[in-house]
Amino acid sequence: MISAPSQSRSGPHPIFLWLFSSIGKKTVVALSGIVLVLFVTGHLLGNFTIYLGKDWLNWYAEHLQSLGPMLWVIRLFMLATVGAHIFFTMLLWKENQAARPKKYIASDPVGTSVFARTMRLSGLIVLGFILFHLAHFTVRIVDPAFQHMDTMLDGHEVHDCYRMVVTGFSNVPVSILYIVGLFLLMMHLSHGIGSLFQTLGLTNRRIHPLIETVTRAYAWLLYIGYISIPISVLTGIVK
Ligand code: HEM
Repeated sequence: MISAPSQSRSGPHPIFLWLFSSIGKKTVVALSGIVLVLFVTGHLLGNFTIYLGKDWLNWYAEHLQSLGPMLWVIRLFMLATVGAHIFFTMLLWKENQAARPKKYIASDPVGTSVFARTMRLSGLIVLGFILFHLAHFTVRIVDPAFQHMDTMLDGHEVHDCYRMVVTGFSNVPVSILYIVGLFLLMMHLSHGIGSLFQTLGLTNRRIHPLIETVTRAYAWLLYIGYISIPISVLTGIVK
């Protein structure tokens, strides 16, 4: 009697097959998107400590650094999340291109917002903006003086994150770059959060308009929250 071939020798594992199926790819993009939205929300709340004063923002930044190796685990996890989000978005895009009949290529996508049509472009520019942001405030190579800004906190010498942010945003072109970069992030989130509800099957025709309104409002709220920081520095509210 001929026995059935064992699964390990009969091809890729079912999870792998699912991951590269259309729904698998969409799920990875949606779940990684949720992680990134949570990060952007948490980062804004942390940055808001700037309004409580110098010691609060420096305490918050110092607290993050004191996580030590755990901070690197979080950083690697976030890097993998960003990588998966981009990689699977590209795979989906290729799949859509291949499935698209040639005669529609030049057609105008009626009924889709400008936010929806520019997802890949806004995503790539947002990536460029985040790389600049990391060079600016994390690696501190845009202005090397940031590397030597120290201050005292509870009797210890710590990095003066507050002074770095205030000095950074006192530069008008840099602040404008942030305000524009953050606008593209807002555009990307505005459509992205709505579509992840759709991908995960958490919406239907009836509630979809409400979900779209709420997600757009949330993206604008994040935008206003973030740009309030460079604007507060430029107007002297934070100094
Ligand atoms: C006005 C807007 C923003 C301000 C004032 C700000 C502030 C900061 C500061 C001060 C740091 C360095 C913390 C430290 O090392 O002590 C930082 C790191 C970082 N920021 Fe922002 N940020 C802003 C917007 C954003 C946005 C929109 C994103 C993502 C979409 C982002 C992602 C990150 C990441 C990934 C890090 C590196 C965290 C780490 O690994 O240490 N930031 N930010």
